[in-house]
Amino acid sequence: MSRNKSADKNTLYWPKIQTLSSVIKSQIKLHANMGGVVPEVAARAHLKYIRPVVTKALKDSKLKIEQLDYIAVTQGPGLIPSLLVGVEFAKMLSLSSGIPLLPINHMAGHLYSPFGGMSSKLSSPSNLKFLFPMICLIVSGGHTMIVVMENTKNYKVIGRTVDDAAGEAFDKVAKLLGLPYPGGPAVSKLATKSKTTNIVFPRPMLHSKDYNFSFSGLKTAVLYKTQDLKFKISATAPMSIGAMADRKDLKIKAEICKAFQDAAVDILAIKTLRAAKEYKAKSISISGGVSANNALQKRFEQDCKKNKLKLLLPGKGLSTDNAEMIGIAAAFALINGARQTSPTKVIADPNLEL
Ligand code: KG4
Ligand code: ZN
Repeated sequence: MSRNKSADKNTLYWPKIQTLSSVIKSQIKLHANMGGVVPEVAARAHLKYIRPVVTKALKDSKLKIEQLDYIAVTQGPGLIPSLLVGVEFAKMLSLSSGIPLLPINHMAGHLYSPFGGMSSKLSSPSNLKFLFPMICLIVSGGHTMIVVMENTKNYKVIGRTVDDAAGEAFDKVAKLLGLPYPGGPAVSKLATKSKTTNIVFPRPMLHSKDYNFSFSGLKTAVLYKTQDLKFKISATAPMSIGAMADRKDLKIKAEICKAFQDAAVDILAIKTLRAAKEYKAKSISISGGVSANNALQKRFEQDCKKNKLKLLLPGKGLSTDNAEMIGIAAAFALINGARQTSPTKVIADPNLEL
């Protein structure tokens, strides 16, 4: 990350952010072979690829390491074996180069990821006050939360899942139906093959007075449905949607995917919109892996238009996990007064709160 020197540190302005390089070494194939994420396998892959990925990111940016002002690293939350690899590598880089280290919360990365697009269009740091208060829905594989942002610095979590995260529910439903990993894109793709369905799944906690979510009941309802229909599901040998095309159960599986996705989208959209009304929000943002879902994006586009709210979405490649969003969050952290910590004091924290 190269610091934007013209940014005004004392105000809640948006920094101008330019992404010089963004490198993702996907582990999807590796995890697909295992039917999900195995922490040790993930960490070994992190160890193998972290150096080549950082080297490529520097090369693509055409910067030399000594031109960097800060190194930002994900401190948590997440799987500790993978976090340790990133944090210890960044500490070593920081200590050996003398470049200050900035620990960043993974969820702050998701929270700020939709700001990247707007920041890149600014000619100079600007005060985009007209967007606030903003209600932010973060939907990933490990978290589901609603955050109210007063400005680019001050925010508060007002709701979260009490059990499974939204992405986790997509992944578990995919597994129940014998679809490949990662479940979200597979469920979403199969759902498009069903235009209508009579199957209706429950919408747990839709009318609870808070902004919390529960997805485990919805997942269990899908489990009961698959048991009723007596599928021959093989969870150990997931099948690609293409290979399933000539199977009789394709139609019913597509209906289940659509009914599940409709329920999940309904819950997420209705609760987020209610929060937007209560907090008199001027805009809504959605981020995290599930925000890549087409049906979810379409629903938010319609609802925001109806309610005269601006909608912020992460740009391409910024929904699912990536390092660019950590750079974006770091730029906002710096403009909002974050101070460097001694690298040796930065500790990976699997349960770090937003
Ligand atoms: O944010 P992310 O990359 O990782 C975490 O921080 O957890 O989110 C991954 C999650 C997975 O559960 C994946 O199935 C889900 O995001 N996901 C989707 C879609 N693409 C990824 N869920 C629904 N529809 C999608 N198109
Ligand atoms: Zn994530």
